[in-house]
Amino acid sequence: MQNKQILLASRPVGMPDERTFEIREAAIPDLSDGEVLIRAVYVSVDPYMRGRMTDAESYIEPFPLNEVITGGVVGQIERSASPDFNEGDFVIGTLGWQEYSIAKAKEVRKIDPAAAPISTHLGILGMPGLTAYFGLLDIGKPREGETVVVSGAAGAVGSTVGQIAKIKGCRTIGIAGSDEKIRYLVEDLGFDDAINYKTTPDLRAELKEKCPDGVDIYFDNVGGEISDKVHARLNRLARVPVCGAISTYNLKERDIGPRVQTLLIKKSILMQGFTVGDYAKRFKEGAADLGKWLGEGRLKYEETVREGFENIPDAFLDLFRGKNTGKLLVKVSDPK
Ligand SMILES: NC(=O)c1ccc[n+]([C@@H]2O[C@H](COP(=O)([O-])OP(=O)(O)OC[C@H]3O[C@@H](n4cnc5c(N)ncnc54)[C@H](OP(=O)(O)O)[C@@H]3O)[C@@H](O)[C@H]2O)c1
Repeated sequence: MQNKQILLASRPVGMPDERTFEIREAAIPDLSDGEVLIRAVYVSVDPYMRGRMTDAESYIEPFPLNEVITGGVVGQIERSASPDFNEGDFVIGTLGWQEYSIAKAKEVRKIDPAAAPISTHLGILGMPGLTAYFGLLDIGKPREGETVVVSGAAGAVGSTVGQIAKIKGCRTIGIAGSDEKIRYLVEDLGFDDAINYKTTPDLRAELKEKCPDGVDIYFDNVGGEISDKVHARLNRLARVPVCGAISTYNLKERDIGPRVQTLLIKKSILMQGFTVGDYAKRFKEGAADLGKWLGEGRLKYEETVREGFENIPDAFLDLFRGKNTGKLLVKVSDPK
């Protein structure tokens, strides 16, 4: 059996392109005791992977050059040399951009396809959902009646943040990049209002109009100029969970923005960066609440699913083109 794999061929400067990735075919090695062979069904593409393509120091190691790019995968056990897994079981793990992966049994977790669609473990019930949950609740600490602004609002993390803020009784304003996304946020997800940052001539004025009482929590997914403008509307004792800065990930030069220290001091604002891994010990608690709200219909989710293994790199680039609503996934095989 041949295995298609996608390797990191070079470290991109600016937006990744065809030189960044290489597709190759390799033989699948035999299984050793305690290992399983997994056929990928859904491959996750996530913005944080852009950071791992550079060799800058970070909270996570860079992807090694000329090796398979690793990331979240939901797949099905094709062969098992472990008593813990049977052929046909669905699992999730940090596997990679390849059709087949060999993993030790302890490196993957069984998921129940009857409990929730298997793809949700890469989205609303998985890493992005948990990021939204802990970032908003642990750092944002929303209180009823407060105003929450979320950027990247129609994406996997942002769409969940806004809905949890509504569950907590907040007034929720989303910022996203198309009129269709604005409609989705307000009409389908129940955001109180939303702003298309690409067509609004004066984001600052628009924020003033839509947040007349200022902003108590700004859940920041994008950084850059959008965030500069939201910062200007922050209230005294506001909280700013800094989750991502996607607007800067492909910059060729370091981003220099307004300095925030004086603002933070004057208004006693808390700005805290975090990674979802900080909350690893509490994942069960987060997943239980997300699952409960999903079951009760209080949380909704969208997925943008691209088809075909070869399209993984292009799907990854779609994150930076704003092509996705909700979680962006690539379906590479059919579940059996
Ligand atoms: N801290 C953590 O542990 C953690 C975990 C997961 C994700 N994150 C971060 O959270 C953010 C959202 O991640 P996600 O997985 O939910 O991705 P996502 O929001 O589903 O997809 C990315 C979205 O970002 C928007 N975007 C792209 N370029 C932009 C730009 N220059 N300016 C403004 N918006 C831009 C696009 O939507 P528009 O059409 O609206 O532009 C795009 O759809 C990312 O910054 C990611 O790195 C952090």
